[in-house]
Amino acid sequence: MTAVIHVERLTRRFGSITAVDGVTFCVEEGEVFGLLGPNGAGKTTTARLLNGVLTPSEGQMQVLGLDPVTQGSAFRQQTGVLSETPSLYEG
Ligand SMILES: Nc1ncnc2c1ncn2[C@@H]1O[C@H](COP(=O)(O)OP(=O)(O)OP(=O)(O)O)[C@@H](O)[C@H]1O
Ligand SMILES: [Mg+2]
Repeated sequence: MTAVIHVERLTRRFGSITAVDGVTFCVEEGEVFGLLGPNGAGKTTTARLLNGVLTPSEGQMQVLGLDPVTQGSAFRQQTGVLSETPSLYEG
């Protein structure tokens, strides 16, 4: 099995709010992976981080062997996002 998403101790703060707090997980090739949690748990922030829309405060992430922030162009050639509401980017 090959992990296509690696997330390690991923953290994102907005001022005094820690929206994503040291999250670690891997997603294997072909795996259907769901992120569940109550309102404000940090799901959308994690999606924004994994798509390079936000930069992490701490931690590491790799998608298809790429850094979504610093290798955004190559990353976007191989990935897509479909959201229920167009809320990935700030309105
Ligand atoms: N741009 C921002 N500026 C300040 N705080 C933010 C910002 N984005 C998210 N937050 C805060 O970070 C926390 C996580 O928010 P996030 O939207 O990631 O949660 P969520 O799990 O997607 O929630 P929901 O189920 O309501 O969609 C919340 O406390 C939220 O208010
Ligand atoms: Mg959300």
